[in-house]
Amino acid sequence: MVVGTIKTVIIGASGMLGSDLCRVFPDAVKLTHKDFEITDKTKVIDSIKRLKADVVINAAAYSNVEGCEDNQDLAFEVNGHAPGYIAQACSDIGAILVHFSTDYVFDGSKEEYIESDTTNPINVYGQSKLMGEQKIIKNTENYRIIRTSWLFGKNGKNFVDTMLRLSKEMENVKVVNDQFGKPTYTADLASKTAEIINLGPGIYHITNEGRCTWYEFASEIINSTVQCSSEEFPTKAKRPTYSVLTNTKTTPMRHWKNALNEYLMENQ
Ligand SMILES: NC(=O)c1ccc[n+]([C@@H]2O[C@H](COP(=O)([O-])OP(=O)(O)OC[C@H]3O[C@@H](n4cnc5c(N)ncnc54)[C@H](OP(=O)(O)O)[C@@H]3O)[C@@H](O)[C@H]2O)c1
Repeated sequence: MVVGTIKTVIIGASGMLGSDLCRVFPDAVKLTHKDFEITDKTKVIDSIKRLKADVVINAAAYSNVEGCEDNQDLAFEVNGHAPGYIAQACSDIGAILVHFSTDYVFDGSKEEYIESDTTNPINVYGQSKLMGEQKIIKNTENYRIIRTSWLFGKNGKNFVDTMLRLSKEMENVKVVNDQFGKPTYTADLASKTAEIINLGPGIYHITNEGRCTWYEFASEIINSTVQCSSEEFPTKAKRPTYSVLTNTKTTPMRHWKNALNEYLMENQ
């Protein structure tokens, strides 16, 4: 399938990843939260059927990990049940569904995870996103579930911007040095999504290359970092020690440091 000759619908079009997807798929029908509520099963199914899409890309989610602990029902509605409704509609009209999931479906007891590894989420966000994966697999055969991690990009709240802000507000910025993952630039992920559509159904692990801790990530962004442990920085949601996704199915993306340099150059 060639991008441009197919009808693509992007759900969650104004989110951080959604905005970059809109740049990669300029002709797509772009649906934001204002015009499309993914938890409304009847509307979701009717709308997608009416749009007669060939490809539906769902970038909508309740992505606030701490918020999911406080609003569990909402987390399971948006991240768990709603992807199932979208999948059902895609199956009915023969559309490909591309959906994004997370490294937090794993418990972090292994140093890295391939696509077929056993899931065991340790926070509500991860549990709700895993439910979303399961509902999709149950409702359609033609899916691409792209698990990704530690996103940063132009149109959303992200760690890079938070570090830049904090470095202006305080002399030293404390950052945890005992959680490992792979930072990923949404512009790179959006471009790669176009490629994944042309691959077969399944689960994909797509991140920038190279793993690091949050402290190491922060130290590439600002100079005033001080390392600390997760114990010194308690959060409601438990975080896995390792959430390093390994891609065994497609060509790797560039190293996160190269992607970060580009982001910093373009956004200073
Ligand atoms: N951010 C990360 O570090 C990260 C890591 C791993 C995986 N992911 C996954 O990657 C995908 C994209 O994440 P992101 O960071 O780009 O998310 P984001 O910036 O929070 O964007 C999510 C979008 O979904 C919309 N949305 C939320 N609830 C909705 C609902 N009930 N109906 C319709 N739209 C709704 C939001 O609109 P409003 O803001 O107007 O509500 C927002 O535009 C998600 O599937 C996320 O789980 C993200």
